[in-house]
Amino acid sequence: MSESRYDAVVIGAGPGGYPTAIRLGQLKVKTAIIEREYMGGVCLNVGCIPSKAVIHAAKTFEKIGHADTMGISVAKPTIDMGKLQSWKGGVVQKLTSGVRTLLKGNGVDVIDGTARLGKSGPDGHRVIVQTPKGEHTIVAKNVVLATGSRPFEIPGFKTDQKRILDSTGALALDQVPKRMVVIGGGYIGLELGMVYAKFGTKVTVVEALPSILASMDKDCVGVVARKLKKMGVEVMVKAKAKSWEDKGDRAVLTVELEGGQTATIDTDVILVSVGRRPNSEGLGLDVAGVATGKGGYVVADDQLRTNVPGIYAIGDLIGGMMLAHKATKEGEVVAEIIAGHKAAMDIRTIPAVVFTDPEIASAGLTEDEARAKGHDLKIGKFPFAALGRALSVNDTEGLAKVICDAKSEEILGVHIVGNGASDLISEAALAIEMGAVVQDLNLTIHPHPTLSEAVREAAAAAIGEAVHIINR
Ligand code: FAD
Ligand code: NAI
Repeated sequence: MSESRYDAVVIGAGPGGYPTAIRLGQLKVKTAIIEREYMGGVCLNVGCIPSKAVIHAAKTFEKIGHADTMGISVAKPTIDMGKLQSWKGGVVQKLTSGVRTLLKGNGVDVIDGTARLGKSGPDGHRVIVQTPKGEHTIVAKNVVLATGSRPFEIPGFKTDQKRILDSTGALALDQVPKRMVVIGGGYIGLELGMVYAKFGTKVTVVEALPSILASMDKDCVGVVARKLKKMGVEVMVKAKAKSWEDKGDRAVLTVELEGGQTATIDTDVILVSVGRRPNSEGLGLDVAGVATGKGGYVVADDQLRTNVPGIYAIGDLIGGMMLAHKATKEGEVVAEIIAGHKAAMDIRTIPAVVFTDPEIASAGLTEDEARAKGHDLKIGKFPFAALGRALSVNDTEGLAKVICDAKSEEILGVHIVGNGASDLISEAALAIEMGAVVQDLNLTIHPHPTLSEAVREAAAAAIGEAVHIINR
């Protein structure tokens, strides 16, 4: 068996692993990265990027359909899913090939294969890689586990990507289904459910909890819920998918409702989007003695150290917010630590965006979370409908909401629903990171006419100083 030696080896080239390796390369640490399937991980190949591409296509499709409001007449739009798939594929291909180039350009060795941990020795940790040419052993002082996650399957709902889809299958459809049931009204279910609803699919969302997007700000969720209704998407809450039957020409889903009653829904496809689980099996964690916790997540501290010195873990594999930018930040911290610098996950907020239409973006605490922590609150809200910019781009659904501590006026949370919310939230994240008070947002001059004025006006509204709405 061949053997090589590195100062650091990263397992998994997703948005956690590949930035870790690039940063290690920049810091002159001799590094290899091992990837079994695709450069860029879930995010670039079957997650963030392809989903945002189809979401953009669906939004464009819908906008064209409504252009007559502005005096623009166009023929009724049609969608060619084959063409959409190849455009989406091109976007993914550009980004993933860029990752390989960046890794190589930073002196990182890329090894294609499946890795597992072996027994560590006095000379370092062992990583055994199954490559197309056979097994290869790497001895490394440091190992970064960044193997990510995969979708949960509900028992009885085995993914076949025909009737039962996961997000990967739903992103690869070459036909628009007539009917789709989405199990799980979370990030994936609503982002992709809305895409197909725009393309003409009759979509039903089945959500077990009393609300869709239960972790997001209620005012923001309300705006998206109204849009879903307007689009004809049926949302069933307190409803749990129990079983399904293939009837040949259709699938029939049985759902358990509140109080134990059941209902059946006829559909063509079922998208199961009920969360994700860590890729921690088969990784040799037991051999190397790396501890896992509830749900199989690897346990790591604020410096991303596992219980085994020199073995770190990041990204979806350790749970928490399963978001690409969280994985990347953790990877950057690990790289600094391995290179001997002082670093830790010393952060106040990880912003989150649900790319529904309108988008919901959030940084910091929700109202409920802030109250549960014992804060008295001042809250300012500003509707997009009162923004010149929103009116002039014909996109007025939405609001910005700034939550601060009543006494200190420190900003605790900002929640935005509306067109462009995903880009607007970074200002809020910076404000929270810097411990800003609402006056900091209010006193900052925001360019006019822009959507960002909603954030400033919401901050002003929290202290009764909003100009373009009546302060209450
Ligand atoms: P992953 O991206 O899962 O990468 C892990 C990599 O490790 C994979 O490439 C895998 O092949 C490899 N690997 C696993 N085991 C081994 C092994 N034994 N040997 C070698 N390689 C191995 N997040 C956002 O922030 N914004 C979004 O808009 C967003 N949209 C999403 C849309 C969808 C449809 C999905 C499914 C997810 C989305 N996410 C989004 C979540 C985001 O994709 C993940 O949080 C992110 O990819 C996690 O990064 P990671 O590096 O931890 O793991
Ligand atoms: P999710 O956790 O966002 O939502 C799952 C939903 O399914 C929850 O509301 C849950 O109550 C519900 N549920 C669970 N079991 C159920 C059942 N049997 N019947 C009915 N409902 C049930 O998970 P999702 O949508 O699968 O996404 C996984 C993760 O991927 C997200 O949590 C997020 O971290 C990441 N992601 C991020 C995106 C972004 O940043 N824009 C986009 C897509 C995914």
